Amino acid sequence: MTIKKAVIPAAGLGTRMLPITKAQPKEMLPVVDKPVIQYVVEEAYHSGIKEILIITGRNKRAVEDHFDRIIFPVKDEGIERLERMLDELSILFVRQKEPKGLGDAVKYAKPFVGDEPFALLLGDNITIPPCIKELVKVFEKYKAPVIALEKLPKERISLHGIIKGEEIEDGIYRIEDFVEKPKVEEAPSDIGIIGRYILTPEIFAYIEELKPGRNGEIQLTDALKVMSMEKTVYGMIFNGRRYDIGDKTEWLKANIELALENKNFQEFKKWLKGKIT
Ligand code: UTP
Repeated sequence: MTIKKAVIPAAGLGTRMLPITKAQPKEMLPVVDKPVIQYVVEEAYHSGIKEILIITGRNKRAVEDHFDRIIFPVKDEGIERLERMLDELSILFVRQKEPKGLGDAVKYAKPFVGDEPFALLLGDNITIPPCIKELVKVFEKYKAPVIALEKLPKERISLHGIIKGEEIEDGIYRIEDFVEKPKVEEAPSDIGIIGRYILTPEIFAYIEELKPGRNGEIQLTDALKVMSMEKTVYGMIFNGRRYDIGDKTEWLKANIELALENKNFQEFKKWLKGKIT
């Protein structure tokens, strides 16, 4: 049993990034020299996944255009690398009619997924190294849904979905409950969910049963909460780096850190050192 398909929701409004996202998708925001969504597609590709569904919506045309084939009158190394990857991928698009929440967006993937387990990668998050690759290994061992987790500092607990669970082996949890954005003193742990999942098609039935939750949106976390009461759901602590590009500070941090690691931006590194000291 291996994971052949990935679903990437990219239809959210991106209100935390306004006014940048007034007329352009947040998934197209540049991080150094590529839009965020390209990092996400590359993560799926480097995890061995070749079939991808991107969920788009109003104002998201640029996401589709980015994965078209277009001949430029100049040679560009970045474009050539992208083209080579696209040669091996099948990328489909579906439009979410209204941005009614992540759970609602995932529902649109049902026909694409069929009866296979699938990877779900939020289109505005970057993970280094590819988190999905690690989740696939855990899924292959336990043969049940697995969700990527991270340990959070106290001040960030109330900003994330938090789990209650039992650690069954180093860094692997059996999840018993999910609480969306709890107060620190009410949080069942300091472990939050990040935007990477391996799910089975069972999730669709749980989403269909949902009533709108926080902010009047259909929340994927609410479906996972009910599912974890009836089925086994695992969590895996991801020890790599994760950037939520839907947040202005995180977006800036991602640009600086990734530029400093990129050999094409040595001049920038020198300039920044001069600014700081
Ligand atoms: P967020 O939770 O960041 O929501 O979405 P958002 O609406 O995009 O952003 P804010 O909170 O208003 O700033 C996480 C991922 O789920 C997608 C987003 O595009 C993003 O990749 N999403 C969210 C959808 O596809 N549809 C939705 O209705 C909501």
